[in-house]
Amino acid sequence: MDALFPRARSLSESLGEDKRREVRAGEEEEPHAEEGTTPDTPAGGARTIAFAEVQRHNTRDDCWVVIDGEVYDVTRFLEDHPGGTASILRMAGTDATDAFKPIHPPGTLTALDPSMHLGSIDLDTLPKLELSQSKKLELARIDAARRALPPPEAAINLADVERLAQTVLTKTAWAYYSSAGDDEYSHRENIASFKRFWFRPRVLNKVSAISMDTVLFGGVASTMPVYVSPAAMARLGHPDGEMEITRACAKEGVVQGVSANSSCSLEEIMGAKSGDQELIYQLYMNRNRQRSAEVIDKVDKMGFRGIMLTVDAPVSGKRERDIRAQGDDFQGPAEGTNEGKGVAQAISGYQDPDVNWDDIAWIKSLTKLPLYIKGIQCVEDAEKAHDHGVAGIIISNHGGRQLDFAPAAMTVLYELHQRRPDLMKQMDVYVDGGIRRGTDVLKALCLGAKGVGIGRPVLYGNGCWGEQGVRRVFQIMREEIATGMRLLGVTRLEDLRPDMVRYVDRDPLLVGPGEGQ
Ligand code: FNR
Ligand code: LAC
Repeated sequence: MDALFPRARSLSESLGEDKRREVRAGEEEEPHAEEGTTPDTPAGGARTIAFAEVQRHNTRDDCWVVIDGEVYDVTRFLEDHPGGTASILRMAGTDATDAFKPIHPPGTLTALDPSMHLGSIDLDTLPKLELSQSKKLELARIDAARRALPPPEAAINLADVERLAQTVLTKTAWAYYSSAGDDEYSHRENIASFKRFWFRPRVLNKVSAISMDTVLFGGVASTMPVYVSPAAMARLGHPDGEMEITRACAKEGVVQGVSANSSCSLEEIMGAKSGDQELIYQLYMNRNRQRSAEVIDKVDKMGFRGIMLTVDAPVSGKRERDIRAQGDDFQGPAEGTNEGKGVAQAISGYQDPDVNWDDIAWIKSLTKLPLYIKGIQCVEDAEKAHDHGVAGIIISNHGGRQLDFAPAAMTVLYELHQRRPDLMKQMDVYVDGGIRRGTDVLKALCLGAKGVGIGRPVLYGNGCWGEQGVRRVFQIMREEIATGMRLLGVTRLEDLRPDMVRYVDRDPLLVGPGEGQ
């Protein structure tokens, strides 16, 4: 298990351990003293700077931060920070390493203007790092949980994976991953909605040989009608982050949607993929359209197979678990507001609230890659998407993380199927949100979905066991889909028809065996 997911490494990474802390603990020689830079540090200043000097530069007009032993003047960068101004300002005049490292992909700092790098911190002047009592307890809790973690095969359903993930993840990671908007009704409804559809199975159909092979996203072969929904910050759960998901997808023959807010760089992710593996890029529209144009050009050239434009997050939803988990750690100029608090707030500031339908034609003018709109939440917008000539839509409420009381994807799919079945023949329709069982997948396919995405379970599997955990998630889904197909009396996905499900207008029955949490 240790070779799979080295415990010491994961712990230190997840709690923001770094060379600076090692030096302060006096355990090692100053590891960066020789060059004054790390591979992730831009060229620039060679000064050695006392921490007291950094502390004086702590305002919007004069903002310095220390990251990994290097000092940066980020005043000019505040407005451009993809995560918004507030999240940096909270760290003005301080050592921001612990806040920075888990959520920024490698290479982030090298993209800065070299003149912003002022020099290296004088390590002797850095205050001795004292872990708070709660951090020490957290370390001990994670250490014990990782020791007690069973092998991936011990998880027999996705609820098992989720339960185990909660024991091993940091407070920050669990809060960010599990959080949803406001009172989390949409998140619960996502899961509940599938329970209002019951099957009308067929029997005596020779079901020993079945196939669930399919083609998703306009030509990408997949071993099952399930793909990885793009979800940010996989490194909060595992030091190799999204790369573990990429490796798992290669082995399981599954398509990965790569988040615009991935914690690994696109170069790392593409470097981790196997030869013929295909990936889809998820785009958020940047307030600065030039940046979006550059990203579109980059993913096109890098060989991504399609683009999903996410449109249900013009601003981030109010994620209270996420805000609470981070509340203690950040003090600073934005005191008194939730602005910049929590992981979601810290990474989403660049997303343009003014993203609009005209952007669709603009994106299509820049690339020939098939374009999918992710986050459609009513039939009228599905019709509009079709009118705009996209290759497909993803019906989604973002895992219930955005507008609370946004409908579950299954509800919208059902309505679309009743009102505009013709549209479903003219463009691909995918759904995500709350899919936890093979039967959930089959129900969506019966109503005309081409495939379904899963978000949190992938992050949870990754958080527990990295690549092997993500593989386990897909193995569980594969087995459940296979059993479900046989018991429903179908041998091919094409045989899943609307008359095999029935909408039952009543509250779900009592909580089932896998859903105890
Ligand atoms: C997401 N999701 C998401 N979607 C997106 O388009 N871009 C993103 O960066 C993210 N980030 C993200 C982070 C985390 C932690 C979660 C849980 C989700 C939404 C995701 O693509 C998908 O719509 C939902 O996760 C589906 O719901 P389930 O499967 O998590 O219930
Ligand atoms: C989220 C953003 C990254 O859901 O989309 O956290």
